[in-house]
Amino acid sequence: MEKRYEGKAKILYPTTEPEVLLTVFKDDATAFNAQKRGQIQGKGEINCAVSAALFRFLGQRGVAHHFLDCPAPAQMRVKALEIIPLEVVVRNIAAGSLCRETGLAEGQILPAPLVEFYLKNDALGDPLLTPERLFLLDVARPEEVETLKTSALAINQHLIAFFADCDITLVDFKLEFGRDPQGQILLADEISPDTCRLWDRGQRDPQARVLDKDRFRRDLGQVESAYETVRERVLAQIAKLGL
Ligand code: TMP
Repeated sequence: MEKRYEGKAKILYPTTEPEVLLTVFKDDATAFNAQKRGQIQGKGEINCAVSAALFRFLGQRGVAHHFLDCPAPAQMRVKALEIIPLEVVVRNIAAGSLCRETGLAEGQILPAPLVEFYLKNDALGDPLLTPERLFLLDVARPEEVETLKTSALAINQHLIAFFADCDITLVDFKLEFGRDPQGQILLADEISPDTCRLWDRGQRDPQARVLDKDRFRRDLGQVESAYETVRERVLAQIAKLGL
């Protein structure tokens, strides 16, 4: 089947149903706007399984999302949406670019969750948008931006609780949203160790605790086993919830 779109971590294919797309998750990993490239063995299957589980969990909590089912490992059928070209980042603890750009110390707990909008544009390096630039670019209507923010904060609360039950701290994460043909906004893309910072609560050491793509970004080693740990704990928690 001909590809509809190929991104850095996933390929989208059309299906026989016009309103359904097939996502195939790749083992390819990139960081720093694809300046660093590599492979994480088994990542496609893990990110697909973790994302499917988290979409099911969030759906059960009332969050509208694009996930339909997984016809095979590393494959996910999703509703075809018009993707809003924004990366909606929610932060609970200072890490990554927030520390680099503000001087906040890594690990500092934020007084309240911080929601940020980045423009999804690789050529421009996914820049952080001010609210004024966000409205200037007109990528989403003001009431849609409010929906994105409210939804991201609600998802944050659900995911914090879910990961806490996995003995994992949700440091920060990135979401993407899209519009269905009726104009309803649905959660899209993936939620996985590629798109979240996840710290093992059982580890105090600032490097040993990292269970996400920072192991690849920062050459910390044991990338595959960290992803596998996330999959095992997430799937165990999903089973416990009967989902
Ligand atoms: P940052 O600290 O590098 O801005 O990343 C914030 C969160 O967003 C972190 O959990 C990783 C995730 N993220 C993506 O999913 N895709 C990206 O392209 C970037 C830069 C970050």
